[in-house]
Amino acid sequence: MRLDLITIFPEYFAALQLSLIGKAITDDLVQVGVRDLRDYTHDVHRSVDDTPYGGGAGMVMKPEPWGEALDAVLAEAPQRPVLVVPSPSGVPFNQGIAEELSHQSHIVFACGRYEGIDHRVIEWAKQRFDVRELSLGDYVLNGGEVAALAMIEAVVRLLPGVLGNPDSLVEESYAVATDGLLEYPVYTKPASWRGLDVPEVLLSGHHGKVAQWRAEQSRNLTAARRPDLLG
Ligand code: ADE
Repeated sequence: MRLDLITIFPEYFAALQLSLIGKAITDDLVQVGVRDLRDYTHDVHRSVDDTPYGGGAGMVMKPEPWGEALDAVLAEAPQRPVLVVPSPSGVPFNQGIAEELSHQSHIVFACGRYEGIDHRVIEWAKQRFDVRELSLGDYVLNGGEVAALAMIEAVVRLLPGVLGNPDSLVEESYAVATDGLLEYPVYTKPASWRGLDVPEVLLSGHHGKVAQWRAEQSRNLTAARRPDLLG
């Protein structure tokens, strides 16, 4: 999988070198290119934003640097890439979307700042990319970089060979195989810690009862915290 990131803060993506994603890059399962949007400006101030037409607070990202940065990505793209535009106005990102994206060969992330990117960039991009405007959740970040990092982590860990133990994909929260329920609480040794004991059933060695207890915990937790997932 090829990932291209366009940003005015390339340093954010140093975090991709860490942990399992870093290993996926070292192992060449993922190739990452980070482009500084300011490299596609031509004025001395390297400006990427301007005041909004129609007035209002804040600044809007100018279309020209975005057009040139996206042209540069396309010039090296063998096929039509996916363009993810992180935005609080996007479709909510979830495990199903992560799964879909994990089957793509080339994803470009356009990380906007300020009040967003001139909308014509998105319109233009739709002719050349499969554009996905995606939101991390109902809150406002200062820009798309942190959202892109979160989405990349969710996608890359689904690629074959990235996780040491692929079984952990099946059981975790939001995984399809757990029927979309939240994960049950987990424990490790010691059996007693600061006066708190691990639930007896988990020490019983009785697989059926353990499975039953876990299913019940998942259901109760989901009912309490995420009733929307129960349908
Ligand atoms: N940019 C700013 N806020 C965001 C959010 N909630 N999700 C994705 N991108 C964003």
